[in-house]
Amino acid sequence: MRGILDRLAEEAKDEDVYPNPAFPPSPYYRFLKLLAAEFKPKLSVELGVCGGGGSLHLALGHPYGTVIGIDYIRDHEDRIKYIEDNYPNFEFMLHDSASAAHKVFDEHGKIDILFIDTDHTYDTTVREYKAWKPYLSDTAIILLDDLDRDGMTKAFNEIEGYKVVYPFLNYGHGFGVVYLKPVLVSRCKSC
Ligand SMILES: C[S@@+](CC[C@H](N)C(=O)[O-])C[C@H]1O[C@@H](n2cnc3c(N)ncnc32)[C@H](O)[C@@H]1O
Repeated sequence: MRGILDRLAEEAKDEDVYPNPAFPPSPYYRFLKLLAAEFKPKLSVELGVCGGGGSLHLALGHPYGTVIGIDYIRDHEDRIKYIEDNYPNFEFMLHDSASAAHKVFDEHGKIDILFIDTDHTYDTTVREYKAWKPYLSDTAIILLDDLDRDGMTKAFNEIEGYKVVYPFLNYGHGFGVVYLKPVLVSRCKSC
């Protein structure tokens, strides 16, 4: 698994950027796309959608998997609408990040990829992790960015699992990956 993640992180540097300039060319977006293409998650969840670049790339990487983007504000209506119109596997959910967990699980089942990207504080990140943990699949991958913010490395260290950090995926600000199984398990073998 670690070798695959290292390869995808390297490939993300040279991967083509999304052609619509409304979405910034963040290296971690391209990593999300490659990760979804490789792992084929049935269900990915992004906590904190903002302009939607993260969800867009998860949806793009594996069109047969469902991507739920959760944010308590629907800002950037034009971009969110663009993703909804062009990627039918994406769903925006207007909700608090932590209390949405059981609702998403009830409707969609266990989560294969969880990208935690809201306010980057220790308390919120731990609250989100604890809320979603019971609903993670046994081979889930958890992603966190901006590990250089106060308390974020502490929160990252408290998440259970195998870990790797790729600072270059987020312009040096830290991008962490936690994986629960040491071998890659493609979730959707038939697609
Ligand atoms: C850093 S931005 C997300 C960026 C996005 N993930 C990306 O990669 O482009 C953070 C977002 O988290 C949302 N947010 C912050 N706290 C939240 C909470 N408790 N519940 C839901 N959304 C939250 C904000 O409204 C904001 O849109």
